[in-house]
Amino acid sequence: MFLYPAFLVLASHASTVFSTSFPAGVLATGTQGVTNPPVPTMPTTIDQTSMARLLSVNSIDDFCIFAPPSLATIPDTETIEVAWCTLPRNNARVIPDGTLSGVSFLKTDFYVQIYGFGDFTKLNIAPNDGGGELDPHGATGAGNPIGGNVSTTIVDGIDEPIAEWMLYIDNNQFCLRACTNANSTYSAAFMCWHELDEMGCEFVMPGTYNYQGGIYETCDADVAYPPGWYPEVSGGTTTFSTFAQYATGVYTGNNGLPTSYTVGDTVTPTGPFSTPSSSNCVNQATVSNGIALASLTTGAKGTAPPLGFSSSTDISPPASSLPTSSAPVNITSSAPSSSATNSATGSTSRNLFGALFFLGSGGLSVGDVVITMSYRDVQVN
Ligand SMILES: *[C@@H]1O[C@H](CO)[C@@H](O)[C@H](O)[C@H]1NC(C)=O
Ligand SMILES: *[C@@H]1O[C@H](CO)[C@@H](O)[C@H](O)[C@H]1NC(C)=O
Ligand SMILES: *[C@@H]1O[C@H](CO)[C@@H](O)[C@H](O)[C@H]1NC(C)=O
Repeated sequence: MFLYPAFLVLASHASTVFSTSFPAGVLATGTQGVTNPPVPTMPTTIDQTSMARLLSVNSIDDFCIFAPPSLATIPDTETIEVAWCTLPRNNARVIPDGTLSGVSFLKTDFYVQIYGFGDFTKLNIAPNDGGGELDPHGATGAGNPIGGNVSTTIVDGIDEPIAEWMLYIDNNQFCLRACTNANSTYSAAFMCWHELDEMGCEFVMPGTYNYQGGIYETCDADVAYPPGWYPEVSGGTTTFSTFAQYATGVYTGNNGLPTSYTVGDTVTPTGPFSTPSSSNCVNQATVSNGIALASLTTGAKGTAPPLGFSSSTDISPPASSLPTSSAPVNITSSAPSSSATNSATGSTSRNLFGALFFLGSGGLSVGDVVITMSYRDVQVN
C-alpha cells in the first residue's frame, strides 16, 4: 500500500507526527529511559540479563510487564524493575511459556487494560510477595522503575508513547492500564490515578477477574470511572466524589524532629462504583511464544533474534500475524491451581498490595499530602 514507506520513515518520530490527534496529557513527550531502545522493536535478541524498561501493550499475545532483575519483592525493587515481554522485543527479557495461567486484554475508549494470573516467581518475584504498584511518577518523578516507559499500537496501529500508566503486580497476579485518551471530564492522569495503591487490582482497574485461571480473552469494554470516583446524579447534574487513601505515619522533618501525620479519609469504600461490561470477547487457548525454555533460563543470551518472529518496528503489526502457530515446540501452558486458592474476593485482592507506601520510598515531603483530593467535586454538563 502507498502509505507504508512513509510510515517507515516516520516511525521513529511517531509521537510528534501523529500527536495532534491525541488530547493533551495522553502522549509522553520526553525521551526513552536510558536503558531502553529508541523505539519499540520486534524482534530483538534474547537477553535474560537485560535492564531495558520499555513495555509494549499491543495485544494479548504481545505485551510486557515489569518484574525484578533478580529474585526480590516488588516493594524492594520498584526503581529497578525491568521489562519482561511475551515476545522477543524491545531488548527486554522474554516471559517463558508456562508463566501465565490466564490473561484478559480489554480495549476501551480511554485506556487499554490487561490483567492476569501466573507464576511470577518465574519472573524473579519473591514467593509470597504482597506486590507493589509501578507508575511513571515515583519518588523522584523519573518513574518507578526509573526510566520505565509504555507504548501501545492499540489506538491507531502505530507505536504511541503513553504518558500515564500503572501496573500492579505480585507473585501471582498483575494488572496494567495505559491511558490512551482523555476529555474534559477524564484526564489521562485521573484515569490512570495511581495513588490508591493499597486498594488492589479489582478496585483500581475493575474488570472480571478470572481467578480460576485458564481464560485467555480479548474484549472491548466500557470505560470505568476513574479510580476512586463515585458519581452522584442530582437534578440532571453529575458530580463525582473521590476519596484519598488513608495513611498515618511519622516522618522526620528538616528540623530533625519526628512528626506524625495523617492523610486521606478514614472511611475506605468497599469497592469501585461499578465494574464495566466487556463485549465482543474472543477467547484463545493460551499465550505462547514457542521459544524453547532452555534458551530463556536465568542469564541466557542469544546471538541473534529467535527465528520465526516477523521483523517490524511495530508500524502496524496485526497481533494475529505474530507467529505463535509456527512455534518450534508445542509447550502448553497449564493453569496452576495455586491461582485459584488465592482467589476471589476484593478483600483478598486488597491484601495483596497491603504493604505499599503510596508516598514513595523517599518519605513525606511538601506536596505529597493528598488531602486536597478528598471529596473534590467535578461537575459534568
Ligand atoms: C519515559 O519515561 C519518562 C519518565 O516517566 C518520561 O519522562 C518520558 O516522557 C517517557 N518517554 C517516552 C518516550 O515514553
Ligand atoms: C468524557 O467521556 C466519558 C466516557 O465516555 C463521558 O461519560 C463523558 O460525558 C465525557 N465528557 C465530556 C465532557 O464529553
Ligand atoms: C499443542 O498441544 C495442544 C494440547 O495438547 C493441542 O491441543 C494442540 O493441537 C497442539 N498444537 C499443535 C500445533 O500441535
